[in-house]
Amino acid sequence: MLASLKPKVTTILSNNVESVENRLTELCKLLSDSVEYYDWVGFYFKNGDKEELKLGPYVGEPTDHTIIPFGKGICGQVALSNENFVVPDVAAQDNYIACSITVKSEIVVPLFKNGENIGQIDIDSNTPDPFTEEDERFLEFVNQEVSQIL
Ligand code: SME
Repeated sequence: MLASLKPKVTTILSNNVESVENRLTELCKLLSDSVEYYDWVGFYFKNGDKEELKLGPYVGEPTDHTIIPFGKGICGQVALSNENFVVPDVAAQDNYIACSITVKSEIVVPLFKNGENIGQIDIDSNTPDPFTEEDERFLEFVNQEVSQIL
């Protein structure tokens, strides 16, 4: 199911006529429109030399959390751990930054460029515990494809 989206991901990202920003927004739209439990889909990137993440292209409710210090929240923890973080129940997390009260679960997958953790894809879901290893493998693929246009 998720694997069937791979050619569409590649097509969107290889469209050199559009800016990187527009292609990433288009990608977020594809994911949130195609997967019913992907309710907020966005990218955070390391903010220059600072130990913080800055919000990039996204689709979904606007968030106040446009800057997230490394270590804070699920996103900030992934900036340091370099590992996927799957949260089946956000209410069970101490170090969590709430963006919307409707969110029940979250997945964050780091994005590597030349082996360096330069950002991440972040997905919030209003469904409890929806994410499986299939999501992890698929989002790793998405990030590998994105890293090639950065
Ligand atoms: N929940 C995230 C913050 C980003 S929003 O989900 C858009 C976190 O705890 O890092």
